[in-house]
Amino acid sequence: MAKNPLHTKLCDSLGIEYPLIAFTHCKDVVAAVTNAGAFAVMGETQNTPDEIAADIKWIREKVGNKPFGIDLVLPASVPPSGTIADLKAQIPKEQREYAEGIKKRYGLSTPKEQPFVEQLGWLTQETPRKQLEVVLDEKVAVLASGLGNPDFILDAAHERGMQVWGLVGKARQAKRELDAGVDAVVAAGHDAAGHTGAIGTFSLVPQVVAIADGKPVIAAGGITTGRHLAAAITLGAVGAWTGTLWLASRESDKEMAVKERILSAIAEDTVHSACVSGFTMRTLRTKWHDEWAKPEAPRPAPAPFQLLLSGEVMQAAREQNLEGWVGEAAGQGVGFVTKMKPARQIVFDTVEEALNVFEETTGVVPGED
Ligand SMILES: Cc1cc2nc3c(=O)[nH]c(=O)nc-3n(C[C@H](O)[C@H](O)[C@H](O)COP(=O)(O)O)c2cc1C
Repeated sequence: MAKNPLHTKLCDSLGIEYPLIAFTHCKDVVAAVTNAGAFAVMGETQNTPDEIAADIKWIREKVGNKPFGIDLVLPASVPPSGTIADLKAQIPKEQREYAEGIKKRYGLSTPKEQPFVEQLGWLTQETPRKQLEVVLDEKVAVLASGLGNPDFILDAAHERGMQVWGLVGKARQAKRELDAGVDAVVAAGHDAAGHTGAIGTFSLVPQVVAIADGKPVIAAGGITTGRHLAAAITLGAVGAWTGTLWLASRESDKEMAVKERILSAIAEDTVHSACVSGFTMRTLRTKWHDEWAKPEAPRPAPAPFQLLLSGEVMQAAREQNLEGWVGEAAGQGVGFVTKMKPARQIVFDTVEEALNVFEETTGVVPGED
């Protein structure tokens, strides 16, 4: 019987059925995806060490001993430490004044609630280190690093039987991390939601595979269908890492206005800009993007200062229910996400479509393997 092309090395190394990885900030999505036989990585940059420990406990209660991962963001270019007030005091004047001007033009007042971005661990280098301690103590199967080189944590993770994955946007960066000993790299193309570089998934993945010397490469960026999953495997990846695909799932805890925008958006509704966080990032376009794209706008401030500016203004706009300000990270594959489905169903539909594509294109019926 023909082999199952979706049974990759990643399935063996993690003991999972399908080489589909969900990145999400929602633990219900993690549980549903894990129990459906795929793999999920929970983004925890916004949580305190105690909250991370509680999430891990909750997920384990739902999935038993099935493996899952935790993602933290570890950029080296942000200040070593500091309170939110310290960081706000360092926001460059030009960008602060421009953001004040935007607030005035839209009639935005100071938000009542603390902006969500002020909880992100990666605003300084100090918090992620405390978050990492919990993840190491809990010995989760995979520690993924969304930004920043995780090489300093490799020995500690490996001693605990954990894998370490690094997200990369360039072959050079992949080589550096693989040489340091990461267990896999996630090659995230320009198409991807969130922080991403200039090279598209179709160019980046084979470049990284070519220098990986047989080490696992996972493809990311714009993967929202089974056809994309089949393409990722064909490009040489051992799996597909996906984010946008889960945002409008039934279990997702995103607010309904965000889900509705995701379900109706097409690729052109996403934009790649540093105006949200100071690092280039793909998100849905909002009025904030339009303001920073104007010829008179200054360049965005470096991270994390731009994030503090965008966080405050976006929070105020949300509280005042302003039209055109509903934003979220989303990849170019968003146009294929058109129905709100349970996460389990998304796993099965994506896998089934990928197998059909292999059958259609090769004429070989994939075996059960
Ligand atoms: C709403 C949202 C938030 C994200 N936040 C993070 C994050 O905190 N850490 C991280 O490593 N990646 C983050 N990402 C990026 C994903 O890990 C992943 O690389 C990306 O979603 C892949 O592209 P796709 O959305 O086109 O599948 C985020 C993505 C989305 C959609």
